[in-house]
Amino acid sequence: MNSSSIYILVFVQLWLLSLPCRESVCIPSERETLLKFKNNLIDPSNRLWSWNHNHTNCCHWYGVLCHNLTSHLLQLHLSSSDYAFYDEEAYRRWSFGGEISPCLADLKHLNYLDLSGNYFLGEGMSIPSFLGTMTSLTHLDLSHSGFYGMIPPQIGNLSNLVYLDLRSVANGTVPSQIGNLSKLRYLDLTYNHLLGEGMAIPSFLCAMLD
Ligand SMILES: *[C@@H]1O[C@H](CO)[C@@H](O)[C@H](O)[C@H]1NC(C)=O
Ligand SMILES: *[C@@H]1O[C@H](CO)[C@@H](O)[C@H](O)[C@H]1NC(C)=O
Ligand SMILES: *[C@@H]1O[C@H](CO)[C@@H](O)[C@H](O)[C@H]1NC(C)=O
Ligand SMILES: *[C@@H]1O[C@H](CO)[C@@H](O)[C@H](O)[C@H]1NC(C)=O
Ligand SMILES: *[C@@H]1O[C@H](CO)[C@@H](O)[C@H](O)[C@H]1NC(C)=O
Repeated sequence: MNSSSIYILVFVQLWLLSLPCRESVCIPSERETLLKFKNNLIDPSNRLWSWNHNHTNCCHWYGVLCHNLTSHLLQLHLSSSDYAFYDEEAYRRWSFGGEISPCLADLKHLNYLDLSGNYFLGEGMSIPSFLGTMTSLTHLDLSHSGFYGMIPPQIGNLSNLVYLDLRSVANGTVPSQIGNLSKLRYLDLTYNHLLGEGMAIPSFLCAMLD
């Protein structure tokens, strides 16, 4: 080998070594989905300021986590409930409102979705049933999210769910399809108006506790 080919070899090896450290650069179609999702949101304190076309790498946007090798969007952390507020008005300014666009379901690799502590579409609007098509989800937190009404039975299609927090979103019965979530390890249904409250726990929930 002559010296120039050794240089090339060393260079290629250094380049290969640097590969695992490369940062995720988001997938354009997933970025467009996030921008559509943002369009339907109300964000009074502009927490999603980083979500715009000028910051092309959506993996660095607020609340977003991508896979470090495939760059697919894996997690959305959009909770507003970790903050202590003295008054309702300050809380409202911090929280997200508006509508959850069904385009969210285009994020086929999303496994973690936290929308807790917001005020989506407020009174009288139940959890959107399209969430039941997001079958990659393992963690879903919709607690205190402003939704209120029937728990859509489609939630029972989220067969990979391990964690499901539905505090303060439900009025009605617990759909028996929840019993199909065989991987579920955490389920919180407190602060709901569930029919049959004070009566026996539905048998399918008991079976899950075994
Ligand atoms: C990717 O992230 C995982 C944790 O999610 C970590 O264990 C792994 O080392 C990371 N890989 C690279 C190449 O950075
Ligand atoms: C993006 O960049 C353009 C041109 O620099 C600027 O006019 C525009 O206001 C920027 N938009 C945002 C959302 O920052
Ligand atoms: C999801 O669940 C609903 C109600 O439980 C059911 O009717 C529907 O066929 C399911 N959809 C898929 C894609 O499995
Ligand atoms: C709960 O649902 C029932 C039956 O649909 C309805 O009559 C009641 O007003 C609801 N409760 C609240 C607090 O919205
Ligand atoms: C839920 O489980 C029952 C059996 O326990 C099964 O008959 C039904 O098809 C399942 N539904 C879904 C949506 O997987």
